[in-house]
Amino acid sequence: MRFIFLALAFILVGLAFAYDEREALESFYNLAGGPDWTQSDGWMTDLPICGDDVTDPWFGIECTSDGHVAYLVLNNNNLSGKITSEIYKLEFLRSLYLNDNFLTDTIPEAICDLSNLMYLQLTHNYFIGSIPECTCGMDQLKYFYVNNNGLTGNIPLCEEYENPFERVIEFHGHCNWFSGEVSTVFVDNEYFEELYTYCNFFDPECDPAYMYLGPEYRCTASDSVCDDPTCRRPPIGCPMHLITMECGLYYPETPFFPELPPYEMGCSFPME
Ligand SMILES: *[C@@H]1O[C@H](CO)[C@@H](O)[C@H](O)[C@H]1NC(C)=O
Repeated sequence: MRFIFLALAFILVGLAFAYDEREALESFYNLAGGPDWTQSDGWMTDLPICGDDVTDPWFGIECTSDGHVAYLVLNNNNLSGKITSEIYKLEFLRSLYLNDNFLTDTIPEAICDLSNLMYLQLTHNYFIGSIPECTCGMDQLKYFYVNNNGLTGNIPLCEEYENPFERVIEFHGHCNWFSGEVSTVFVDNEYFEELYTYCNFFDPECDPAYMYLGPEYRCTASDSVCDDPTCRRPPIGCPMHLITMECGLYYPETPFFPELPPYEMGCSFPME
């Protein structure tokens, strides 16, 4: 009897988690332009989110063997809008890959509650605002990529945290609008290897444009890095072009809207 009761309790708890995860994904879909996604097989249907061991019916999702969402991989899938703050309900998530989309708004603080997250990759989108300071406490995070967005402010300084970004191996923050001092919180950490901060607006004295830290330590000055054709920084405030300390003369690029002249893209950012 007792055993049955316990088993029932486990099943109910399991269902409650699964229900929360479904809610989070539905909200994610609704706020990130789901109907316009390039691929969205399975999403918002009655199909279980986590299938058998071989296939998980919802596109871009892979589950743990015990039926929790572990990977959400929606790179280059025409996502727009923003990341839902319900995302914290995906508490078993290990990887969040949303690179090469049209997401905007701020990175929600709710992301910090994903305590199992190891890969956070939000590159080549239109995120604005600063990186939430609470990311300092994400103690499983290993690869933290936010390059090529419209992020501003400091990279988190983590002054209130004892072991900030404990396990981070790589941080890519290049091609944003970060300013102030380059945060050195990563550098002292045991696992840390790579920091990219070029193409930002850091104080020139503390702007190592490219740093590789590890067995071999390299730091070069910040010239010519913006010749890198992948360096796309969304313009803010409608400039026709900018002259920046690190990048020289910078023209907004329009890889996603080749039909628009650059200044129109500048004027449409951030989204109205
Ligand atoms: C991508 O999404 C936008 C809305 O954000 C939509 O207008 C457009 O048609 C979508 N593109 C494709 C190829 O589906």
